[in-house]
Amino acid sequence: MPVIDMAAEMAQVNHRGFLDIEVDATLDLFAEIERLKKEKNAIVLAHYYQEPDIQDVADYIGDSLGLAQKAKQTNADIIVFAGVHFMAETAKILNPTKKVLLPDLKAGCSLSDSAPPELFKRWKEEKYPNHTVVTYINCSAGMKALSDIICTSSNAKAIIDRLPADEPIIFAPDKNLGAWLNKQTGRNMVLWNGACMVHEIFSLEKIVKLKQRHPEALFIAHPECEEPVLAIADYIGSTTQLLKFSATNPATQFIVATETGILHEMQKASPHKTFIPAPPNNQCACNECPHMKLNTLEKLYLCMQYETPELTMEEDLRLAALKPIERMLEISRSAGLLG
Ligand code: 13P
Ligand code: SF4
Repeated sequence: MPVIDMAAEMAQVNHRGFLDIEVDATLDLFAEIERLKKEKNAIVLAHYYQEPDIQDVADYIGDSLGLAQKAKQTNADIIVFAGVHFMAETAKILNPTKKVLLPDLKAGCSLSDSAPPELFKRWKEEKYPNHTVVTYINCSAGMKALSDIICTSSNAKAIIDRLPADEPIIFAPDKNLGAWLNKQTGRNMVLWNGACMVHEIFSLEKIVKLKQRHPEALFIAHPECEEPVLAIADYIGSTTQLLKFSATNPATQFIVATETGILHEMQKASPHKTFIPAPPNNQCACNECPHMKLNTLEKLYLCMQYETPELTMEEDLRLAALKPIERMLEISRSAGLLG
């Protein structure tokens, strides 16, 4: 007689997007997750903005480019994506036959939400029908399907530099990253009016005061920050680039303008250095991404145990979204940007 696992049968993702099952408080979740990885041939990929426990249990931690590449290379049967929805979607687009799990299906992204595909499509068709669309990876599969090429903050400049100088380009969805890239590349790309809620919240005034209080500190920032913040930065780069810079630069103090999750890896890489999170413009913890932080170690364990929530996608959409991602990976490879 087949044995029915009643708990698994009843494991239903609730309306908020995750498994609401009570976890025995005495369980060693780190050991359980390691066990599940082996039993199920699963790999855990995590973005730097995940909570420290998730980063510590992950097989690979990285920025959007590194994660996409890792998702493409893996031989695992199950990819557990500790990040946000568009990242898990990218993993699925690259791995149609693998099971892709996301601890919380509602872990979205304000930047991705700022570019609804139908709206973008109408706008482009009406105003810029002949423009090439370069889209930041922080967007939905629907937006990717409308794009000619995808980029991340690690490879955006290299990708744009490879397009003919006179090619008219729309850059979406992040207007801050787009404006910075226009300066870096000397282009005049048309910018979609989107932004990230975390990177827009940093207070220029408070950062200036922090710099005065810590004159030895270098101020480093992610290019999703607004222009006045970027204007006073000593270094600008993707999360991986910021991490590498802080580890290799001889300075011992850094003020960091990006989501605070990255500080965990920075501190691990350079235990003797001091990392100060750049303050938001009010008293909230707004320099933490509320979407990234929806994932918890418990939800990660539960999604591996019950293999849900799973990310699924229509094949037509997947194929349309795959093309511009593959173009990105190809150019990144030839530019020597892939590890
Ligand atoms: P990177 O890690 O690619 O720099 O992206 C930052 C980000 O905002 C991801 O949501
Ligand atoms: Fe999206 Fe910003 Fe959160 Fe990154 S930090 S997932 S861009 S809302």
